[in-house]
Amino acid sequence: MTMAATKKEPVVIEGAGALNTPLSGLLTWVDQRFPLMSLWKDHLAEYYAPKNFNFWYYFGLLAMLILVLQIVTGIFLVMHYKPSAAEAFASVEYIMRDVPGGWLIRYMHSTGASAFFVVIYLHMFRGLMYGSYRAPRELVWIFGMIIYLCLMAEAFFGYLLPWGQMSYWGAQVIINLFDALPIIGPDLSTWIRGDFVVGDATLNRFFAFHVIAIPLALLALVGAHIMALHEVGSNNPDGVEIKENKNAAGKPVDGIPFHPYYTVKDSLGVVVFAFLFCMVMFFAPEMGGYFLEYNNFIPADPLKTPPHIAPVWYFTPYYSILRAVTEDFMFWLALGVAAYATLIVFTSRGCLSKILAVLIAPVVIFLMKGVGFGMTFTLFRGTFLEITLPLEAKVWGVILMGLATLIFFLLPWLDKSPVKSIRYKGVLSRWALTIFVAVFLILGYYGTQPVTDLGTLISQIGTLLYFAFFLLMPWYTQMEQTRPVPSRVTM
Ligand code: HEM
Repeated sequence: MTMAATKKEPVVIEGAGALNTPLSGLLTWVDQRFPLMSLWKDHLAEYYAPKNFNFWYYFGLLAMLILVLQIVTGIFLVMHYKPSAAEAFASVEYIMRDVPGGWLIRYMHSTGASAFFVVIYLHMFRGLMYGSYRAPRELVWIFGMIIYLCLMAEAFFGYLLPWGQMSYWGAQVIINLFDALPIIGPDLSTWIRGDFVVGDATLNRFFAFHVIAIPLALLALVGAHIMALHEVGSNNPDGVEIKENKNAAGKPVDGIPFHPYYTVKDSLGVVVFAFLFCMVMFFAPEMGGYFLEYNNFIPADPLKTPPHIAPVWYFTPYYSILRAVTEDFMFWLALGVAAYATLIVFTSRGCLSKILAVLIAPVVIFLMKGVGFGMTFTLFRGTFLEITLPLEAKVWGVILMGLATLIFFLLPWLDKSPVKSIRYKGVLSRWALTIFVAVFLILGYYGTQPVTDLGTLISQIGTLLYFAFFLLMPWYTQMEQTRPVPSRVTM
């Protein structure tokens, strides 16, 4: 195809005044070779966002900002960091003490990691509140969830790199969890470590994933997340679809162009965030041991296990769920599975779900050791497929911890409410969300603490409530009285 055939109209920059001529000349040149202006229009100048965005809509942009911050500071850290078990700890100390500005870059990166999770949890909470996972935004949510899983992996891999006591023992504990899985467990954990113990091979592969593989995946996923969002349009605090109400020019009457309205509004969010971020970074980068654990200022020692090993705060709700599953708790779990299957059988309208409940629940209960069947047997003894049934509480802890993250993927199909936003949902949804948030925080707190009987009991109750929020959603979202949704957004 010739250039003449692809010739585009000269670019006109509205409001650019005297700058219009030389700048638009350059832009026209670029635009004839690259879809710059159409990208700008589609995603900023002519992307119509609902005009009632509130505080909760700052966090997507802030997440993007932190992603960039982590990548840029990460590049500078890699210039001095040594990914070897013999040198890693000392190289981080060298960055902190001898590299000009090294302490600043390192604290930006470590504070950035926690800030990322603060922002992402608030971003996800907004999604839960306003039903932003509901049709037609299921894929926006699913891409978001894959991003969340990648972020957790990114943080986990990164935490090993300073090669302190917590890096070492945290990785040891988490990788050993895979040991508990039937059949593949032991081989899988050795394969992840690259050795029989956490060592140089583990550090090297975690480094490769932390600096290249996962950041690349994250960038691609964030691109997909935004493209999916801009395809269907943003949700808003009222859960009203603004595309359904357009003016004569075909623009949503309740929408405003993202640029300049939200670019300007979001810059306020960026300033406030930068202020809070600097406060933490300059005055409390360890944040009382929550952002940087004190034990991690001691070099890794494979011969000396710290008395209390806990992951960083953003993993602790899941860590609590893992620790909550004890032999005694198996009975209550089995009871929960039986009660849930009964609920499905007696109240579900779908024939398939009834059949699945009747078939799956007994198998799951049978697989729970300690429930009372009293028998244990080993299948495929002596082969690589050897598996002892029923499964130990430890295995169920790992399974439940995994399910606790994965269950978020199902939200678009679990929420059966006729309305999207919590503003118009009924009292049951409001209570369910409030209790869920409280439970998430309580589980998070107990995950940072050493094991006590009371802590275990609270974590067990928390675990049941955590799953109840999701699994009972199809019922409580349909039972409750909702309020009528307005036809236009409210301000
Ligand atoms: C690196 C991580 C992420 C980045 C950079 C990011 C970025 C964004 C941006 C810029 C928006 C549009 C502005 C806004 O609504 O705030 C957005 C919307 C959204 N994000 Fe994310 N996001 C990330 C992670 C997640 C995660 C983990 C989830 C949930 C699992 C998620 C779910 C959503 C949803 C549902 C929307 C649409 C919200 C609405 O229209 O009401 N995002 N995201």
